[in-house]
Amino acid sequence: MPVIALVGNKGGAGKTTLSVNIAAGIARDRNTAVLDADPQGSSMQWRAFTDDDSTLSVYEAGDDLSGQILALKGQYDCLVIDCPPSVHAPQTNTVLRACDIALIPVQPSPVDLWATVHTERAIEEAREVNPALRAMLILNQLETRTTLSRLVREAAEEIELPVAKTGIRRRAIYRATALEGKSVFDIGRRGADAAEELENLLKEVLI
Ligand SMILES: Nc1ncnc2c1ncn2[C@@H]1O[C@H](COP(=O)(O)OP(=O)(O)OP(=O)(O)O)[C@@H](O)[C@H]1O
Ligand SMILES: [Mg+2]
Repeated sequence: MPVIALVGNKGGAGKTTLSVNIAAGIARDRNTAVLDADPQGSSMQWRAFTDDDSTLSVYEAGDDLSGQILALKGQYDCLVIDCPPSVHAPQTNTVLRACDIALIPVQPSPVDLWATVHTERAIEEAREVNPALRAMLILNQLETRTTLSRLVREAAEEIELPVAKTGIRRRAIYRATALEGKSVFDIGRRGADAAEELENLLKEVLI
């Protein structure tokens, strides 16, 4: 019954995109919900575009976030939490203390990777009360299938957090599906490559 949080200290890294798509992938086998802990409400907005009978429920965070997480944990087999773009936000703090796995999407640039040092510190602090917390960086918006640049590899080596073997490529389909309130799992062949990539990532995450 994992609680998976998408966290990070940078805007636009892919937290919301991966929250809804990962949740949709898991929802095929398990009763899954998304909790939008970001006051920007992007996951809520995504859901608002949906006009079909998608089974994925998206909840807006209320004042008692930790109580809400506990309640949803009891109701669903898996909970995916979309966090605001700051590890200093109170919501992120609460979520890191309550979740099982923190996934940190980061764009494959050395500057963005170096900036994850703040996230790393927040994870270490959360582990003082949540020692079983697992954490993993996910390289998102990779440009091509070619290997990562030497700079990116070197920057990743300086970070203590493990990096998922599966990188997520930059694909227009993520933007297109967001506009339709859909995930890449809902659109058949158009989303097949992206769905396969996310399935590989989920194998690493849900061990
Ligand atoms: N793998 C990808 N391929 C193509 N576009 C992507 C990918 N991941 C994210 N995007 C796009 O990048 C933008 C930022 O993504 P997203 O909103 O998921 O980031 P975020 O981390 O949630 O941002 P914020 O910190 O503002 O909440 C969006 O327009 C999204 O559609
Ligand atoms: Mg977001």
